[in-house]
Amino acid sequence: MPRRVDIKGVHMFVPIADVPKHEGKEVSLRGWVHRMRDQKALVFIVLRDSTGTVQIAVKEGRSLETARKATQESSIEVLGLVKKDPRAPTGYEIQAKEIKIVGPAERWPIEHKKGEDLTEDFLRDVRHLYIREPKMVAMFKVRSALFGAIRKFYEERGYYEVQSPMFTTAGAEGGSTLFEVKYGDKKGVYLAQTWQLYAEAMIYGLEKIFTISPSFRAEKSRTIRHLSEYWHHEMEAAWMTYEELLAFEEDLIVFLAKYVLEHCEAELAVLGADTKRLSGIRKPFLRMTYSDAMKKLGKKYGDDITDKEERELVEQLGGVPVFLTHFPRDMKAFYMKPDKDKKTVLAADLLLPGVGETIGGSERIADEKTLLESLKLFKLAKKDYGWYLDLTKYGAVPHSGFGMGIERLLMFLTGAPHIFDTIPFPRSLDRVTP
Ligand code: 4AD
Repeated sequence: MPRRVDIKGVHMFVPIADVPKHEGKEVSLRGWVHRMRDQKALVFIVLRDSTGTVQIAVKEGRSLETARKATQESSIEVLGLVKKDPRAPTGYEIQAKEIKIVGPAERWPIEHKKGEDLTEDFLRDVRHLYIREPKMVAMFKVRSALFGAIRKFYEERGYYEVQSPMFTTAGAEGGSTLFEVKYGDKKGVYLAQTWQLYAEAMIYGLEKIFTISPSFRAEKSRTIRHLSEYWHHEMEAAWMTYEELLAFEEDLIVFLAKYVLEHCEAELAVLGADTKRLSGIRKPFLRMTYSDAMKKLGKKYGDDITDKEERELVEQLGGVPVFLTHFPRDMKAFYMKPDKDKKTVLAADLLLPGVGETIGGSERIADEKTLLESLKLFKLAKKDYGWYLDLTKYGAVPHSGFGMGIERLLMFLTGAPHIFDTIPFPRSLDRVTP
């Protein structure tokens, strides 16, 4: 394999995070100009790569001329000497000997000028550029760690990762948020809202399964926590009961909070996350019934809870995770197993501080009679659920599962004020570009 050499043909390129290891030595770096300060006989460049930033000081001759042309976000290669310098932002400075511009940059549209109003709309127009800003990059690192952490959690518990189709013919989460797609000459084909019905079929072979996949909702609501395309982590397990499900969710959330605290300390600091709140999470989580929640919110039985009210409720209860339980049957999904009273369901929403509902889970109906009754109650056509009904006829067992919005969990973990901050290219009904 050919060795990567620098502009002098001597060194390998060093990631910026490794600069301290090379104190007193020459290194080659490459990255993008995050900031440039011209002080006549001296130019300071803050160089950024995916691992960090470091200050470059350029003094002499031709290099100084080149450095002056290195506008913000130009890509450059630098050869220089590593010096410890307490005045430099990261404690080290590179005294440049040579600089090469790889890709010059036009005037960077996102200037860090004090007082300039960078509107949300503008930042979404330039999203393809904005995603390199340090806060965004920190978020995507946490996001990447989270995907890994979820997989680790399930691997330790003997679960299989399973994928389900994105083109589906029947909704599971209500018709109002279905995206209909043009699918040849077929009518009634939609983008998936959930893997759930397919997962319920898969457990009869694999028993314990999970997925991380996109889900689609034609959400008309413009809130801080709704996307039309989001990443959905879901799990389903044969034999699992409602109580076991809630305990499992607690284990997952505690595991993920701990994992992110341990693996993403620097990123959480950049994002200004409330790490104290995160490290204080303890199980078992608080529980509150829907009817008690309505009393606390001064609303009447049968009313919906808005997402703002969910967040208020969580704060009133001490800013900790809360399971909201015992919803009236007709307010939830058709597949949820009714409780003994037949009026409420064995389902729970997990509300998290700063977000509200982040997980929706339930024990599922596993017998044909109750399922038929439920389809009727929800005015769903039996013919649309033919294969799903089949599952009740061949060795059905009690089973449970849940779905968790990855972006909502990221809001909780990082303290992001809006769901758009947690995904590189957010999708809403208002906008599908860039
Ligand atoms: O509560 P939901 O609709 O439940 C289901 O889809 C079940 N079938 C899941 C299951 O049991 N396998 O959605 C689950 C979670 C919500 O709690 C929320 O975190 C997230 O998905 N979610 C959204 N996230 C962002 N934007 C949206 N429009 C979302 N809709 C739901």
